Formats: sequence, structure tokens, C-alpha cells
Amino acid sequence: MPGLGVNIDHIATLRQARGGLFPDPVKVARICELSGADSIVCHLRVDRRHINDNDLKILRKSVTTKLNMEMSIAAEIVDIALKIRPDQATLVPEKRLELTTEGGLDVVKYKERIANVVNKLKKRGILSNLFIDPKKSQIRASKDIGADYIELHTGAYANANTELARKKEFERIEEAAFYGNSIGLGVNAGHGLDYINTAAIAKIPKIEELNIGFSIIAASVFIGISSAVKEMKKLISRG
Ligand code: PXP
Repeated sequence: MPGLGVNIDHIATLRQARGGLFPDPVKVARICELSGADSIVCHLRVDRRHINDNDLKILRKSVTTKLNMEMSIAAEIVDIALKIRPDQATLVPEKRLELTTEGGLDVVKYKERIANVVNKLKKRGILSNLFIDPKKSQIRASKDIGADYIELHTGAYANANTELARKKEFERIEEAAFYGNSIGLGVNAGHGLDYINTAAIAKIPKIEELNIGFSIIAASVFIGISSAVKEMKKLISRG
């Protein structure tokens, strides 16, 4: 059974909406771990739109499972990772105007630059995880530069709008997982996974961890809003 990495970026997004300290992603990370999460994922973006440097520092101290820092290969962010030393660094492409990470990293095209970052991480004892599209050339290039893990981008599978397209995307992920595993890479997967499309991916035997954010944070509103409203009603009625 693959492990579950919970991405807490959207808790920080909610906090940033009011610019205060609540809700605190560090506290939510603890609840996720106590609820069975196998790792905590957070993305320190260059624009700091959600998770900030202080969150990362405190998460490094408080996370007891595994801290997986998502990051671009921007020099400033790499330096922070080398200082903080998360257990794992997931390298992703980052565009300033995107709503979320859109595509996989092009390891074939940027082989040297990515290899350089992977080596720096390795020297500091940080595992590297390259977020790539489920393509043989990208998987091979990831292995060639010494990555520990690949994370297969499941976005095209999640967004497929016909059964046939979904099946095709599923098969690409399955094939990629087997190929990655056969050449000695650890294989993870993530992006766009939700309460409907995750079960099939979880059955692929070679996948070690699924990293999921948006659907879990969104589901927590539905699961939690009733209690939150009742609690406020109680408080008002006492007042
Ligand atoms: N894995 C990676 C590398 C990502 O960039 C993201 C999005 O931040 C996720 C997993 C989680 O995606 P989602 O929020 O759609 O579950």
C-alpha cells in the first residue's frame, strides 16, 4: 500500500487571505500526522504565496514523519533547502502566474542544472524526488543524474474527461511506475488526486507514496463545517 503525503500549502493559502496567523499550517500538519499521514509536503515558492520561510523552519522541528519540501531549482530556494535539510526535496517547475504546478520538470532539457541541485542535496543527506511526466525519456534522465525518487505527474489522468482518455493516462502512469522501479528509482505519484480517482492509482504495486493536497483540504471543509457552525451557535447562545 502506498504511503500518503499530505500537502498543506492550501492551509497557508487560507491564512494568507487575512494575513494573520490562523489557520496555522504547522498545527494542521500535526493533525495530519496524528491522522495517519506518512509525510508532510509543503512548497516554498519564490513568491511565498502560501508557505513562508518561518513555516518551513518550524515544520522542520515539528514534523515527526517525513518533511518533503517541494521546490524549484532557483538558487535562493536551493540554499534554503540545504540549510533547513528536509528529509526529501521534490523538484518541480515553477511559473509565477500558474495557480498550481502545471507540468512535470523537463529533466532531459535541463539535465545539467537539475543534476547540480540533486548532487548538492545528496551531499547534505537530502533525498531527491523529481516531479516528471510519465515519460520514459524523463525517467531515464532522472536515473542518469542520480535522483533517488521520481514523482509521476498524475494531472493528465485526473483531468481526463473521457473514460478512454483516463484509461490511456492510467496505463502511461502504470507503465512508467514499472519502468522507474525496474531501473532502481523509487516511484511516487501525485497531482489532482481526489476521493474518486485515487483508488486506481493506489493499486499500482510499484508506487511508494501518493502526494495529495487540494482534495483533502477541500474535503475537510465539508467534513468539518457542521461542527464549526454548531460550536459557534453554542458560543452565541451562552453569550
Ligand atoms: N505533488 C506535486 C509535486 C505537486 O506540485 C502538487 C501540487 O502542489 C501535488 C503533488 C498535490 O497536488 P494536489 O494539490 O492537486 O493534490
